[in-house]
Amino acid sequence: MKSLSILCQKGGVGKTTIVVNIAKIYSNNGIKTLIVDLDPQGNTSTYLDFDKQKKSILTSQDLMEGKLEKEIAFLGDNLALIPSNESILKFNNEKIIGGSVLAKALQSFVFKDFDIVIFDTPPTMSSLVQEALCASDFYLIPTKPEFLAIEGVSQAMSFAKETISKQIKVNPVFLGVVLNQIESGRSSYLDFEKELEYLLADKLLNTKVSSSADVADSPYYLKTVEDFTNDNKSKKEFYQLANELLERMNINEKIIEQSYN
Ligand SMILES: Nc1ncnc2c1ncn2[C@@H]1O[C@H](COP(=O)(O)OP(=O)(O)OP(=O)(O)O)[C@@H](O)[C@H]1O
Ligand SMILES: [Mg+2]
Repeated sequence: MKSLSILCQKGGVGKTTIVVNIAKIYSNNGIKTLIVDLDPQGNTSTYLDFDKQKKSILTSQDLMEGKLEKEIAFLGDNLALIPSNESILKFNNEKIIGGSVLAKALQSFVFKDFDIVIFDTPPTMSSLVQEALCASDFYLIPTKPEFLAIEGVSQAMSFAKETISKQIKVNPVFLGVVLNQIESGRSSYLDFEKELEYLLADKLLNTKVSSSADVADSPYYLKTVEDFTNDNKSKKEFYQLANELLERMNINEKIIEQSYN
């Protein structure tokens, strides 16, 4: 089992969109995938049309409390979700350093059956994000190609580095930054791309996800891009992203054959 955190304190950069869409692609292609939502907003559940208030299933709050006896919610043969809701807010603290609770929970045998666990995190620099990071083998930072969002990338990178340096046993690998919602026709875009290439070198992912009305609409229809749109460009980009992440995580045996041209 490998674990991956998607994080950025900047809101609305595409964390949840990326988590849900790559998880769906992985699970549709035989990769046993678990999404753990750590965001009190619970957007992941909404996007996946799952009732986040359901009492009988394991939630991320239960994980934080070490109560693992409830059932994990399966949304398909290979896709499971540990949802979150506002009750996890009590663990979201910007003043304490988190990092030991989730990592321990993840060692439980119930998680061993998954090929990949993906954490969706809140747009904060808080203990819950630190919990996700410290429970992860890898982390990814999404950004929009906008001036203020790019400032957010270096802040997110510093936050992650500082968190990791304060923990003894954890050392998640930085997979890189993915540009989301690109509008290549916009005059500032090439400047931002160049600047990020300069700053990040090979830590800027080759895959870039375009801004698309269908991607933006897909949560409204409670469907992932794969299931919703005829926009093959967006489908292809999410496939490319899913595969580039597998490559960067060295899970090469799971690389997915692309069905979109
Ligand atoms: N490639 C894209 N094209 C068009 N719209 C997009 C794209 N990616 C994300 N969006 C839209 O942008 C908004 C923010 O995306 P999302 O909720 O995934 O960001 P987030 O980082 O998880 O936000 P938060 O920080 O609040 O958790 C959503 O309305 C989503 O549908
Ligand atoms: Mg989100």
